[in-house]
This record gives sequence, structure tokens and C-alpha cells, in this order.
Amino acid sequence: MVSTASFRRVVYGYYKKNRRDMPWRRTHDPYRILVSEIMLQQTQVSRVTEKYREFIRAFPTIRSLARAPLQEILRVWQGLGYNRRALLLQKLARIVVSQYEGRVPDERAALRGLPGIGDATAGALCAFAFDQPVAFIETNIRAAYIHHFFRNRTKVSDGELMPLAARTIDAAHPREWYYALMDYGSYLKRVSANPARRSSHYAKQARFEGSDRQVRGRILKMLLSASPATVRDLCAFTGADRARCNRIMTGLCKDGLIKRRGAVCMIA
Ligand code: ADE
Repeated sequence: MVSTASFRRVVYGYYKKNRRDMPWRRTHDPYRILVSEIMLQQTQVSRVTEKYREFIRAFPTIRSLARAPLQEILRVWQGLGYNRRALLLQKLARIVVSQYEGRVPDERAALRGLPGIGDATAGALCAFAFDQPVAFIETNIRAAYIHHFFRNRTKVSDGELMPLAARTIDAAHPREWYYALMDYGSYLKRVSANPARRSSHYAKQARFEGSDRQVRGRILKMLLSASPATVRDLCAFTGADRARCNRIMTGLCKDGLIKRRGAVCMIA
């Protein structure tokens, strides 16, 4: 069994020489850290960095985000994908303004109940925004634990990793500890057969080219430059057939991103 002390030594040893600088690691503002964690949920650091800066310039406070038109938020979000995250982020901002006097709550259970926040994001916020020693697992963290503690195993569950995460956490410096652990895990994914593939929770992101996700992005792109637009023009722009386009638009309406009025659509 790898000891806690030797695991920490490896993680911090790597981090000391290779730490990654990211704009959200230079702030303690919980709102900014929240924005970064939502953006990082399904998107790589390299793609998030510039969008994060742009987003904070456009919406510097949680109150400014809460009152912004959805159209403006989606315009800035464009290119990051999974646009539903932007809508949920605004819903969250509105709840924080109306129920928490504009301050992001610092309790995991309260965070967990907010729109767009799952267990991992709630844990990450506790660690990065409030320096609390909470255990949580995400893909880079999985890679680090599986590599060191489950050398010859497949289908490792998060249930098996959580006790290790709780045991090894550097409770005196949680924020720094998780930066180090994520940087080290990200390194392992690059240099070896990604250990996170041996997790029972591993899901490779599906191809974007030709996907419904791509069609969704195109519909929103068109509506952000010319709204309202006819369903017919939208279909032509996406290149998808009518039935598929209709199905995808129904999904966008259900998510609350667009509205349909007869033959025309617009941003919700
Ligand atoms: N630093 C802070 N949060 C991060 C995340 N979710 N992924 C990678 N690095 C981070």
C-alpha cells in the first residue's frame, strides 16, 4: 500500500516544478472561481482560459450576471459548448442574489442544491474558493489515485477512491493540495495510458463533428446573430434534415435556451 506521506511527496514534488498558472488560481473571489469551475466541467483548461477572461470582463460580479439578458451571456459563452451551463449559471446567480445577499454559499450541502452544481463542483468550490478540506473526485484526481493505489485494477469506482481522497488531503492547505493533485493527474493522463480509463465512471467525450451538439451550437449561433429566424432557415443553416432539426429544437426549448412561436424561433 502506498503511504499518504509518499503520495503527497510525489504530488507536491511534481507540482513544485510544474505548476500551471491559470487566471482563476490568482483570485479568491468565490464568484470568479465559480465561473471557472462551471466552464471547466466539460472543457479543457486551454479552451477555457480566454473565455473566462472575456466572461469576467462582461459580467464582473454575480449581480451583473443575474440581471444580464440571456442573449448577452450566450454570446460570450459561444464556442465553449454545452450552452445549458450558461443558462444554469445565470439561474444560480439569481438564486444567490435573492437568497444569499449576493454571496456564494460556503457550505457544500447548500452549493450542491444550486443549478448546475454536482458533487464534484461543490467540492471543488469548497476547496478553491473557501480553502476547506473536503474530499472530491474529478477526472484528473481519478487519474492520480488510480495510478498510485490501483495499479492492476480496472473498473475502480469513486466509492473506492473517496476514502483515499479523504485520507490523503493536505488539510492545512486544501486549495494548494487540489491544484497540485489536478496538475499531477493531468500530467499522468498525458504521459501514460490515461489511468482514469480504468475508472468505472470514465466516459470519453463523443465526437463533436456531425453530432447533435454541433447542430445545437449552429442553431444558437444563427439565433444570436439574427433573431427571430424561421424554423426553415435554421434547418437549412444547420444542414440537418427537418425531423432531426425539429427534435433538436424541441430539446433546446425544453432546456429553456430558445423559444418557438409557430414558424419562428428566438433566444428565450
Ligand atoms: N484549477 C482549479 N480548478 C481546476 C479544474 N477544475 N481543472 C484544472 N485545474 C483547475
